[in-house]
Amino acid sequence: LHFKELAKSVMVTSRMMKKAMANRIKTTILYATETGKSYAYSLILQEIFNHAFDAKVVAMDQYDICNLEYESMLLVVTSTFGNGDPPENGEDFLLFSFINIEHGIHKIKSSRFAVFGLGSRAYPHFCAFAHAVDTLLGELEGERVKEIGEGDEMCGQEECFRNWAQQVFKAACDTFCLQEEVNLEDANASLKSTKFDKSNFRVTVSDVQVEPNYVESNKMHRKKLSPCRLIRRKNLQSEKSGRSTILIQLEKKNSDVLNFQPGDHLGIYPRNDPALVKALISKIRDATDDSTVVRLEVQDEKKTFIGNYWDADTRLPSCTLTMAFSRFLDITTPPTPQLLKLFSECNVNEEQSTALRILGQGESEYEDWKFSNNPNLVEVLNEFPSTQVDASLLLKQLPLLQARYYSISSSPDVYPGEIHCTVSVVTYHTRGGDGPLHHGVCSSYLNSITDEEEVPCFVRMAPTFHLPTKEDAPCILVGPGTGIAPFRSFWQHRISQIQKGASKDRTMALLFGCRNPQQDHLYKDEVETAMKQGAISHAYTAFSREEGKPKQYVQDVIMNDISEFVFDLIHTRNGHFYVCGDVTMAAEVHRTLKDVLCINGGMTPEQVEEYITAMKSEDRYHEDIFG
Ligand code: 2AM
Repeated sequence: LHFKELAKSVMVTSRMMKKAMANRIKTTILYATETGKSYAYSLILQEIFNHAFDAKVVAMDQYDICNLEYESMLLVVTSTFGNGDPPENGEDFLLFSFINIEHGIHKIKSSRFAVFGLGSRAYPHFCAFAHAVDTLLGELEGERVKEIGEGDEMCGQEECFRNWAQQVFKAACDTFCLQEEVNLEDANASLKSTKFDKSNFRVTVSDVQVEPNYVESNKMHRKKLSPCRLIRRKNLQSEKSGRSTILIQLEKKNSDVLNFQPGDHLGIYPRNDPALVKALISKIRDATDDSTVVRLEVQDEKKTFIGNYWDADTRLPSCTLTMAFSRFLDITTPPTPQLLKLFSECNVNEEQSTALRILGQGESEYEDWKFSNNPNLVEVLNEFPSTQVDASLLLKQLPLLQARYYSISSSPDVYPGEIHCTVSVVTYHTRGGDGPLHHGVCSSYLNSITDEEEVPCFVRMAPTFHLPTKEDAPCILVGPGTGIAPFRSFWQHRISQIQKGASKDRTMALLFGCRNPQQDHLYKDEVETAMKQGAISHAYTAFSREEGKPKQYVQDVIMNDISEFVFDLIHTRNGHFYVCGDVTMAAEVHRTLKDVLCINGGMTPEQVEEYITAMKSEDRYHEDIFG
């Protein structure tokens, strides 16, 4: 008996010890984010991991890479941006880690890790940065406790994340033998709770009674912003087309800032449509009037996290509600399931509340509803009119308004002090054409600004989309529609070089595509002038809807008219190939280029793959793609 009791007591003690140990297993959750979503997901992950581990959330750019080798459990949540690039605060992570690998140090043999990637399948290189991090941690010999998870912004992202979070938590518990100590059901339930404590927030009248200058207040976006002013706007399409593509000429307010090279992007913080803002404020139960500067008081910051998109230290500046919803918060992206769940809790109509709760589960009902209606906040509140929404809920829970990026369309040598953009003005009807008319936030903003307004801008470098360093290398530029935007900065740059004495004999071939010569042949005259000046050597245009002629896309011209020319420039003359425009076009052009190489170079499909990979690593294949 005595022996049995002893054994039992040893088991109990060992279990208690294990539990104590478990509490001490540190978990680092690293995130890299552009919009704040990866941060919000990291907080959810922290919530579940804290059921068994000691989890802490750290931004990638705040993380000391030397700590990698000491991590017991490392979780990474990151989005992928642009053409497979890291978000800005993840840029250095890979770089430093690769340097470490090259020096053969900092293996992470005793670290367990798992990675979740956020991205959009509308773009190529889906979750590429997350994959790069996952591969890197594997190469550093860390132990992967769970395969990489991926969440597609277009469909089911949150559901994928929650499933992955559950699985990775279980896998981590298994790895550290914590199965007996943890109640998985409780832990999983924490993933579903919204944890928004209303009493934690208050909107009060601010003692600062002056509305902030929003360009400066946009500091909370952590970008170095500089104001620009509109000096000219011109519709590049003819009236007949019924559509608008505008050339926006902005003037920098301060000449030493916003420096860029042809190929770089301009980030612009827009404002929301004033009519939409007004409609939203009219639906808020405790709305203040337009002359009242308010601020959001948060009692306990720790209680606010779940489902919130903001960075830990981000603060909404004191401002009027109009300013908050115009300049700082995103009111047009369909609300997240989390927000709908919160709406269900403050809806006084049972039927509506149930419907919101179902949507708030973020499953197929939500995805279908979002896909078909793409509803903005006002439309949601119209659909569920008994929602009694308070200002504090929206001020705290709405995601921050994001910058929009445009390929810069001018050369600083030709237009010093200015930055030009080529912007397609986006309008569309939801529900496959039967729903209400929606306007693109930034394009309609740029189409309506006056020269009095300050436009908050910043430059984002696009190092893989610059002109060749070897200045006489031949280039082929493929850019239908607004894809022509960066190439205008290229030919302007060439014009200025020629004026400074550069040779006119260089090859720069432009391949543009549009519907027909009368409606949307953007920059036709400028291209003709650039040809006369020797900046563009060849110009081809594919018309897709020219009367009485078969439909032609840029890839058809490449294949049918200039296949040998393209092969010669790329293969024989070591030229550069640039593509700018939408993702489907870029994929089709990519395929066509492979065919051109097969046909003219007698290469096998495998050889062509290798050839294009080599072109990319030699920095001769450049893509600037948008969704
Ligand atoms: P479409 O509108 O007649 O289909 C600029 O938008 C031009 O690109 C238009 O002529 C458009 O043709 C064309 N375009 C649309 N889809 C394309 C694709 N997948 N590849 C190449 N060009 C495309």
